Amino acid sequence: MASNLLEMKNITKRFGQVKAVDNVSLSIEAGQVLSLCGENGSGKSTLMKVLSAVYPHGTFDGEILFGGEPLVAHGVRDTEQKGIAIIHQELALVKQMTVLENIFLGVEWARLGVMDYDNMYLRCQRMLAQVKLNIDPNTRVGELGLGQQQLVEIAKALNKQVRLLILDEPTASLTESETAILLDIVDDLRNHDIACIYISHKLNEVKAISDVICVIRDGRHIATRPAAGLSEEALITMMVGRELTELYPRQPHAIGEEILRVEGLTAWHPVNRHIRRVNNAAFSLHKGEILGIAGLVGSGRTELVQCLFGSYPGRWEGSIILNGAPVRFANCRQAMRRGIAMVPEDRKKDGIVPVMSVGSNITLAALRQFTGGFGMVDEAGEQAAVRDAIERLKVKTSSPELAIGRLSGGNQQKAILAKCLLLNPDILILDEPTRGIDIGAKQEIYLLINQLVRQGIAVIVVSSELPEVLGISDRVLAMHQGSIKADLINRGLTQEQVMEAALRSDSHV
Ligand SMILES: Nc1ncnc2c1ncn2[C@@H]1O[C@H](COP(=O)(O)OP(=O)(O)OP(=O)(O)O)[C@@H](O)[C@H]1O
Ligand SMILES: [Mg+2]
Repeated sequence: MASNLLEMKNITKRFGQVKAVDNVSLSIEAGQVLSLCGENGSGKSTLMKVLSAVYPHGTFDGEILFGGEPLVAHGVRDTEQKGIAIIHQELALVKQMTVLENIFLGVEWARLGVMDYDNMYLRCQRMLAQVKLNIDPNTRVGELGLGQQQLVEIAKALNKQVRLLILDEPTASLTESETAILLDIVDDLRNHDIACIYISHKLNEVKAISDVICVIRDGRHIATRPAAGLSEEALITMMVGRELTELYPRQPHAIGEEILRVEGLTAWHPVNRHIRRVNNAAFSLHKGEILGIAGLVGSGRTELVQCLFGSYPGRWEGSIILNGAPVRFANCRQAMRRGIAMVPEDRKKDGIVPVMSVGSNITLAALRQFTGGFGMVDEAGEQAAVRDAIERLKVKTSSPELAIGRLSGGNQQKAILAKCLLLNPDILILDEPTRGIDIGAKQEIYLLINQLVRQGIAVIVVSSELPEVLGISDRVLAMHQGSIKADLINRGLTQEQVMEAALRSDSHV
């Protein structure tokens, strides 16, 4: 008797000439948590899409057994029925619909042909309580933060009868407390004999939650090991294929004159005008400086940088002084024209046009550079720039012509960064730049930031990962509830110092 809940045997999945998954086998028992680790583009999401029949039977080679029986699934509905639920890396909720409508989408309850709204409401409340989300089921999903949306997705999966839950980078946009809740949920599922496949680039989580860890690289299986006793270093070496020294490269760079100053900036909630998302913020930024903005999710960091970039959706006031002259951008295009570029937090919403090619996405904002006399596009120049950008950022794509939506999550992020760099900005704003990015690529991005500031570019980094902020910034703003609570020079700052400054209650600002 096989005791395995799931066995995937010799799975190979090709896209044209590319083998995204190459002869991978893995198995998992009921109640086990297996983490799937590997670099961006190593094939993790693809393997899970094979399992959940996003890529149906017949479009891949190999065999899948679920509950001891061959799994022949023609679509996600089939696998859902068998008890396999997947939460994709890119959130898939319908923003215009309510939480309840999303959770019950396609599985609405009806009594005598009439929607049984009251019972769905009660059930929904219970599902939300299970993921410790304290919101009204009638809230529109678009009004929720990314972290909350993620928890709604999980509630939605739990609403079905799951035996195996697949989480593809579930915590990439969660706060620390939301992450803790999620890890608790997974633990709870394990106690109910529900198995879980967990994908994350956050190795501390992987270590904490897994029973077994499976590493893939370039589509191939490298090793499957019990999590206990496996060190993070050993894991990284298996993933990257080499030893990684010094995650945060601090290269000396000179800090120049002031390029940007912000005074008395207050921004109101786009819908509720009584709430201040940013409250009387003031700071300055210098050429060649890396300014980190730390704070909990919801502390106003994203709103603050959106005001700078002309993309804040609500009303705001205050002054922004760029190179000594006041500016106020009505939209991003104006900001870009004046030398400001931004990698946004929500790449799916603001960063890319999924159906357009990688190349077109990269040159989208800088297209004017390649337009000569008579509006002719300098195609050769454009192509060369794209090739350069892809190479510089090591974007893993089979061709610049591939639709960007088909790149792995981390590689989409790198492509957005490439697009910003092509603008040759004076100020580069990065909102959660390494979300979903593997550890090797993270290091490359830090190196790149260091290169940029050495050329005199000023960089603002918003990040929820304090070690990252502290690892790369020259100066750190600590934000809390819309206010900048402290402006700290980073000479060996500790996480505790920054959090303490952010959460200090005596508001002297
Ligand atoms: N629909 C597709 N068409 C062509 N190539 C694809 C498609 N989907 C994925 N790929 C390619 O397959 C490879 C594996 O991608 P996958 O999304 O599985 O990576 P991943 O391990 O999940 O990476 P990440 O950590 O960045 O999410 C990548 O090179 C990707 O570009
Ligand atoms: Mg992926």
